[in-house]
Amino acid sequence: MSGALCIDFGTSSIRVVRRMPNFSRVVLEIGRQNKSTLDSVSIQSAIHIDTDCKYIRYGERAVSARKLSADCALYEASPKLWLGQPEKLSIPVLQGMRLSREDVLTGLLANGLAAAVRVMDIGERTLRALELRVAHPVWPAAVNSGACAALGRMLNKAKRMAFDGDWTTVTANKLKDALPTEIIWDERAGLVLEPIAAAVELLPSTDNVRRVCLLVDVGAGTTDIGLFEGVAPDSNSSVRQKLYLMGQPVSLFKAGDYLDSLVLEEFTWQKSTLSQAQLSDLRFDIRRLKETIFTVGYAQAVGARVSQNDVSSSVGANEFVLEIRASIQALINNEKSRISSYLGASVNRMDALEIVMSGGGASIPFLCEALEKPFTLGELKLPVRLIDSSNVGAPNLYGATRERLAVALGGASEQYELCQHQRPELRTIRRGSY
Ligand SMILES: Nc1ncnc2c1ncn2[C@@H]1O[C@H](COP(=O)(O)OP(=O)(O)OP(=O)(O)O)[C@@H](O)[C@H]1O
Ligand SMILES: [Mg+2]
Repeated sequence: MSGALCIDFGTSSIRVVRRMPNFSRVVLEIGRQNKSTLDSVSIQSAIHIDTDCKYIRYGERAVSARKLSADCALYEASPKLWLGQPEKLSIPVLQGMRLSREDVLTGLLANGLAAAVRVMDIGERTLRALELRVAHPVWPAAVNSGACAALGRMLNKAKRMAFDGDWTTVTANKLKDALPTEIIWDERAGLVLEPIAAAVELLPSTDNVRRVCLLVDVGAGTTDIGLFEGVAPDSNSSVRQKLYLMGQPVSLFKAGDYLDSLVLEEFTWQKSTLSQAQLSDLRFDIRRLKETIFTVGYAQAVGARVSQNDVSSSVGANEFVLEIRASIQALINNEKSRISSYLGASVNRMDALEIVMSGGGASIPFLCEALEKPFTLGELKLPVRLIDSSNVGAPNLYGATRERLAVALGGASEQYELCQHQRPELRTIRRGSY
């Protein structure tokens, strides 16, 4: 086996990590390769189609083209969300165009993969030998099989397109011609669940025998939540830790993009007389404005000033917090007897639910504060502890954060395969039993 390649095909940006044959992992500088303004390991997921529907631009090129002029047939900052409506993937991306939504999304994936191939400086044979994986959220049951099938098709096509030259700007004709009509299915091209991959990377692995941990990944399109039991193996074992899923992870389709809409509401509430052009520019800039609000405390645009407090005290922010807490509480309720037994255990007693945040929204203050409050366990209070994942053991992250790279790192690691998804029996752990 020549190793693996995990693509975190994020709603706002794409990251890629390679696992080498010796199991070390290498974060690929695809951002530097594509002159990304985000960081040197991420490419934006944006798509731009010009007014003539002749050129399709991806990533940074899409963002620059939109910045230059608002005149375009399509600008989409979060196109991955199209996968959430698999029945619409085959419709033309724009009326009259021969390309479907799925075709255009496949070009976006090919652009990420082509950048990774250039960074790795490998040929087609080596890429074919790599086990390719792409991460996805927990889609609602009704769309899961359609969305997974589409992502599988896209991955297999993108693999064949990655060597067809530059994908940052392509003509619609070139994309149409390059899309393989017949898919050579690669059995080893696999899908990885985002909350599990992030948990494998970030959840603590040592210094305690047993812990119950919650992973909350606040991305752009989804907030992915998973509850896990971590069991540190004893010294006779070769694995770093065993991670058991407690219940099914969930993805709320409310995250950074939803906060963008709340920020937009605040601006338009303060300035209700904006022209269509001003509104369109404000929409384009809203992700950056929100990030400024949560790092600096406020942002100014179109003559209005929105503060962090304006956003976090809004009705929408409160709804967001309530939905996240309700999803977590439901996961806890499903594991009530198990967690109760760990809290009351005479050895290896658990004292709190440990929470690790990841994704671009990992340090949003009002979310962190909301998660620091205890949950309930029947009649009892379940204390929580927010913990930071340390960078110990991480490969070179080229200045990016581990929270942001967790999905790609975890998805590429051998731990992802070792991670046992079935729940263990309630039993006493003896030396040598793992
Ligand atoms: N300092 C910050 N404060 C608040 N939000 C931030 C900050 N930095 C980035 N974000 C937001 O985090 C989101 C991007 O996070 P991330 O890269 O983890 O998402 P993604 O992987 O692209 O999306 P998803 O996982 O939902 O598919 C964006 O909405 C971005 O605006
Ligand atoms: Mg993500």
